[in-house]
Amino acid sequence: MSTGFSLFVILGTLGTLVVITALLLLNRKVTNPGQTTGHEFDGIEEYDNPLPAWWFWGFLLSIAFALGYLIYYPGLGNFKGLSGWTSAGQLAQQQAEAEERYGPVFAQYREIPVHELATIPAAMRMGQRLFANNCAQCHGSAGTGAPGFPNLTDNEWQWGNSAEQIAQTLNNGRQAVMPAWSGVVNAIGIRNLTEYVMQLSGREAVSDQAQAGQQEYNRLCAACHGADGSGQPMLGAPDLTNNIWLYGGSREQITDVLRHGRNGQMPGFAGRLDENRLHILNAYVQSLSTQ
Ligand code: HEC
Ligand code: HEC
Repeated sequence: MSTGFSLFVILGTLGTLVVITALLLLNRKVTNPGQTTGHEFDGIEEYDNPLPAWWFWGFLLSIAFALGYLIYYPGLGNFKGLSGWTSAGQLAQQQAEAEERYGPVFAQYREIPVHELATIPAAMRMGQRLFANNCAQCHGSAGTGAPGFPNLTDNEWQWGNSAEQIAQTLNNGRQAVMPAWSGVVNAIGIRNLTEYVMQLSGREAVSDQAQAGQQEYNRLCAACHGADGSGQPMLGAPDLTNNIWLYGGSREQITDVLRHGRNGQMPGFAGRLDENRLHILNAYVQSLSTQ
């Protein structure tokens, strides 16, 4: 906070303590011991008695405690307190303690190759928990995905499913580049391309349009999706022949992808999860598609 606001908080806090202390001391003296104060309500009168000693000293003690607390812990504006305690520091310490306890549990699987690890139930239970905490919000709790978020339980892999390719995906993330074609190809061209994509995926298509689309495809798309449409893992270009769709397989959905392009992004986890956990997740991803 700014220095001015910090001063305001400090003065406000200390000022309140001073005022409370003063009120307490001022009210300790009684003017007419044993007499009534003259206040009367409905026949009930108030005696002018001193504050009970236990209560008075208890109050003073709590004020002293408050002062001590404000000196030791951060509480007065920007003043950090003598203890050096911070909530971030406490969190880091607790995380370090947790890591010390649970780290070895994850580390024990580090040397087991991914495909073998995928068959060890205890490890896959850990994988499932890691997946639920880090991946399920995008890929679904069962890994079945949603439009724009790939299904990890099928056998279509944009970026490949070897242990190395998955490790690359999880560590560094992936950024897909499917260009928008509306500025390059006119509406008829897009329609023809859509028909060709329908045909590639083994569905009914208007054949002369698909034929015209194929020529455009060879010119514009084959470099990424392959001449036969089977995709290119280096670029994350999906296989267009298997009728599995990230963005939907209807004519309208395909046309929309062709017009506007798509830039799916998988975040990298290298800084967030350590290698041992990513190794288990790698195996868990393998287990999802081989169940
Ligand atoms: C620069 C490489 C590149 C070129 C060129 C390219 N694509 Fe793509 N395409 C991609 C990538 C990468 C994706 C995946 C996008 C994503 O995951 O967000 C994709 C996605 C698609 C999809 C969606 C697939 C799905 O599962 O939903 C279709 C359909 C498609 N491309 C068709 C085409 C057609 C037709 C052309 C030619 C007009 C073309 N692409 C040109 C790289 C390319
Ligand atoms: C913020 C959302 C998000 C989170 C969180 C996320 N992913 Fe992804 N993931 C994506 C998207 C989007 C793609 C597709 C990228 C593209 O279009 O190419 C993807 C792609 C992938 C792929 C590549 C699929 C293929 O076909 O090649 C794998 C594997 C994967 N994610 C696994 C995971 C795992 C494991 C986690 C948890 C550690 C995770 N993801 C967390 C959004 C997410």
